[in-house]
Amino acid sequence: MYKNQLKLKGFYKTPSLVDEKSCVLLFNQMTKHLKKPKSLIKGINFKYKKKFNHKYPSVRQNKFFLNQADYQKGLKFFSKHTNSVQIKDPLLKFNELNKYIFSQKIYSVLRNYFKDENFYFLYAAIRIHFKNNLPQMDYNFFHLDKTYNSSNKEKNIIKFWIPFSLEKGKKIDCSEFNIISVNKKKISKDLIIKTDYSIKKKLPLSLKKKINTPDIKTGDCLFFDPVNFFHNANKPNNLRVVFYGVAGRKENYIAKKSKFIKISKKEIKKFNGKIQKYTSLISKV
Ligand SMILES: [Fe+2]
Repeated sequence: MYKNQLKLKGFYKTPSLVDEKSCVLLFNQMTKHLKKPKSLIKGINFKYKKKFNHKYPSVRQNKFFLNQADYQKGLKFFSKHTNSVQIKDPLLKFNELNKYIFSQKIYSVLRNYFKDENFYFLYAAIRIHFKNNLPQMDYNFFHLDKTYNSSNKEKNIIKFWIPFSLEKGKKIDCSEFNIISVNKKKISKDLIIKTDYSIKKKLPLSLKKKINTPDIKTGDCLFFDPVNFFHNANKPNNLRVVFYGVAGRKENYIAKKSKFIKISKKEIKKFNGKIQKYTSLISKV
């Protein structure tokens, strides 16, 4: 069932991947790092918003990000100057996370999608998004990830994310992600250009009708194809804490950055042979 949904509609959900107790533990561990400036990276400084074109978000220089001095001023300050920050080395910091990220449940969904076992874990990040008054930016608009020429199947990737957001220690509705369930192969070149980085209001009815907002709660895992299906995320209504993972072919350029993702040797030893192969591109420390 899921292989079809992921291919046809561009997304697939595994409900309740992470149990509530672990969500509470991980949420508390993750949000503690908001008070640790050294853990924080990649908060885009809004001051420089006009300097970069959101159509090319990967072309970012260090000066466009908040620096250590900004993080040291505390959450109240930096959450007004950036929409989100990332926590450094998540797989090293949160052991509890690894048993879910590298679970058979996730592996099976990917195995069904890729139809063989030559796919790898490529990237991990934890991002914390703030509720603030800053304008929307890149991922808030409908876009396609441009990680490869999609006619090249050898470079396929799938992204997955798990929200850990809680309110008063309880699971909440995290349905803040939208995907247009039309493969870009079925959209004309002109319309692709028009749709890229646009808002819902500007979409033609044919695409508007195909917008899905998957029903996601804390601890669910959502898989999606970011290259072939337009997607966006709304600005959050609460503090949003999310794990992002990317899995795919070695030939994708993301694989060049996989060695910068670190995991402890001790954790790797807990995995079976297939998962060990799957994690072979990330660094063991
Ligand atoms: Fe994206």
